[in-house]
Amino acid sequence: MFKKLTEYQVEGARVYFRFEKNRENIRPCVEAISEDIFNVFIDYSGMGHRTRSIEGELGERLNSGENTDQGKLESVSWEESGVVIRTSKMTAIVSDGFRVDFYDKEGMPLSLAYQGARKSGTGLSKEAVELLEKEGHAAAAGSKRVNVQEIRALDKSDCIYGLGDKMGCLNKRHYAYEMWNTDNPDPQEDNFKSLYKSIPFMLVLKEKGAYGIFFDNHNKTYFDLGKESEDYYVFGADSGNLDYYFIGGKNLKSVLTGYTYLTGRAPMQQLWTLGFHQSRWGYESEKEIRTIAQEMRKHELPCDCIHFDIDYMDHYKVFTWNKETYKDGKKVLSDFKDMGIKAVTIIDPGVKVEKGYDVYEEGIKEGYFAKTPDGEVYVNEVWPGDAVYPDFGNPKVRIWWAEKQKFLIDMGAAGVWNDMNEPASFRGPLPDDVVFTDEDRPAPHLEMHNIYGHNMAKAAYEGWKKFSGKRPFVITRACYSGSQKYTTGWTGDNHSIWSHIRMAVPQLCNLGLSGLSFIGTDVGGFGSDCTPELFARWIQLGCFSPLFRDHCAKGCKPQEPWQFGEEVLSISRKYINLRYELLPYFYDLMRECELTGIPMIRPLVLEFEKDENVKNRNDEFMLGDRILISPVVEQGAREKLIYLPKGKWYDYWTGEEKEGEQFFVRSAPLDVCPIYVKAGAVIPKYPVRMYVGNDKDDLLILEAYPGEGDCTHYQDNGEDFRYQEGAYNEYRITNHNGMVKIEKNHQGYREYGQILVKTKSKYKF
Ligand code: GLC
Repeated sequence: MFKKLTEYQVEGARVYFRFEKNRENIRPCVEAISEDIFNVFIDYSGMGHRTRSIEGELGERLNSGENTDQGKLESVSWEESGVVIRTSKMTAIVSDGFRVDFYDKEGMPLSLAYQGARKSGTGLSKEAVELLEKEGHAAAAGSKRVNVQEIRALDKSDCIYGLGDKMGCLNKRHYAYEMWNTDNPDPQEDNFKSLYKSIPFMLVLKEKGAYGIFFDNHNKTYFDLGKESEDYYVFGADSGNLDYYFIGGKNLKSVLTGYTYLTGRAPMQQLWTLGFHQSRWGYESEKEIRTIAQEMRKHELPCDCIHFDIDYMDHYKVFTWNKETYKDGKKVLSDFKDMGIKAVTIIDPGVKVEKGYDVYEEGIKEGYFAKTPDGEVYVNEVWPGDAVYPDFGNPKVRIWWAEKQKFLIDMGAAGVWNDMNEPASFRGPLPDDVVFTDEDRPAPHLEMHNIYGHNMAKAAYEGWKKFSGKRPFVITRACYSGSQKYTTGWTGDNHSIWSHIRMAVPQLCNLGLSGLSFIGTDVGGFGSDCTPELFARWIQLGCFSPLFRDHCAKGCKPQEPWQFGEEVLSISRKYINLRYELLPYFYDLMRECELTGIPMIRPLVLEFEKDENVKNRNDEFMLGDRILISPVVEQGAREKLIYLPKGKWYDYWTGEEKEGEQFFVRSAPLDVCPIYVKAGAVIPKYPVRMYVGNDKDDLLILEAYPGEGDCTHYQDNGEDFRYQEGAYNEYRITNHNGMVKIEKNHQGYREYGQILVKTKSKYKF
């Protein structure tokens, strides 16, 4: 669309460009956001930036159209190759056709605009589409040509990661995806284009270096990552702006730090949220759910939380309690509390249409629900039958919804589980033109869909922060880039099938690489019936997933750990116990994430990006930087092919020393999930406890492995925001072959009663 570059103009940190025959009102621009982040922007909408993922000072500045002074821009000059924009760490060169190329400081190309002709694509004729559809196939219409798009060159060795909860393998190269929050109950397959979450951020790992692209357009967006051609990838949208951030960095980790600098970092949660959670859709009564709590304790299974699914509500009306079946909610929850069990209650956005129901009446009176273009309140169907949709993009609606959380907090709940917020609808999809609000102006569903869950999470977070005074525990199914500031997440309705435990590993890893560090799958699988073997393997995977929740659907075989016989019960206990031992390690990782954006659970490639063997490794992951997990995800398997990257490793179970950079087979009977600890690692542990807080968290155990290593350990009250005023301890721990030195970097919280160092070695285990 753009022709010859004719002039440029520097305004603060932005450089605006003009091209031959360029429409007057379109002024493409490149802005240096930081030393290694550039924003590329074409204001097709005429409304400027309308980012909902970047908040705080930067987001406000972008949205207001204000510019900074020169900011991080070092120089701009017209050279042979085009207009050269330099920061201290990167260079962007803009040339004819608004081609933007990015180089590192040494002049090495990181990402170039694609120069060649675009392939005609794999578009099908009308006849071919008809034929395919006759047998019920969805016709893959080939790469869509869209109004807003960018085509960038791919190198042979480039691998692509991120993109949120997308299905399939870790490396997304060669595949095409869409960003449109989707509730599709069919068992998910590798070829699903979209799921519940839209996170239009990808990381590209090159032979040398890495970079990220964050396409901040919350309309429906498309990513073709080398499906159409080996030579380029395309991202685009039907509408909105071309608004993307190029994030440079030395490696994948620094790209992630850059992305979370823009969109925010997953904050510290309450410590108990890292414990074990039990859930099920279909605990029909107070009596049934009480039994679950009692069974947990009877079987000596540590457990911190039981989730209350839609069954607790009165006719699925949000912010109500079913007094008939669930009796006195306050009493149930306070009895749970006495047992050390917290309750998380589900809330859906769909508000039942019912005269006299306060939430409905208030929302109608205030005009808080989405409307049809004719101004009628828009009605579709969700669990309660006819339902209306709160317009969360309206700040007033968010304040109202935040206040509604008080109902749950007063009842004694400890967190909220936001579901069905794509938003889901049972009578066909919401039409594109349903009218919502985008902060200060009406906006169609098409534009608001992908941020509906995000705005709902934001409202819930604000409410819990204000009325509970604790760190809000919000879980969501749908979200957008930046939601990690407000909410944790789970991967929605998976099934109790082996392909879904396999898929969980790359899915969780890519979610972590997309900013959502606190994430988990429904352990055992949500739909379909779980088998004892599958459950045993899934509890092993769950043990190392940040959100560790057993959940399943109404009508499916019961799935609590004691439902599968003695062997599986004792395997479950073994891994839930291990999880409780590892709580301080998880907590340290959560702190690291808050500070840097590096997720708790990581694909191997994030830690060992030079290692060719891990670029496509789908069945192993790192928990932090020190523990490698190689879960068994195949039915019948009693051995596992393990790959350990360079260095020395120790088998967690036997202490056997293993040299890295090799594949080997380890036996993996049903009760063994292979785990390897890096040489020199120190793993902080707590003794097993039935729930967080039932001892004083007084004893810290440091397991030191042979070798040299160091780490940071973090400790605070695990509950509120006092740590932000300095009420925490931070220890620097160094390990010289089992000689462990502990120093304090920061003192602001009470000391441990005792710190016990346990030296591990192949001789002493
Ligand atoms: C949706 C959720 C699931 C929940 C069910 C009933 O399917 O994804 O987790 O149990 O609704 O609320």
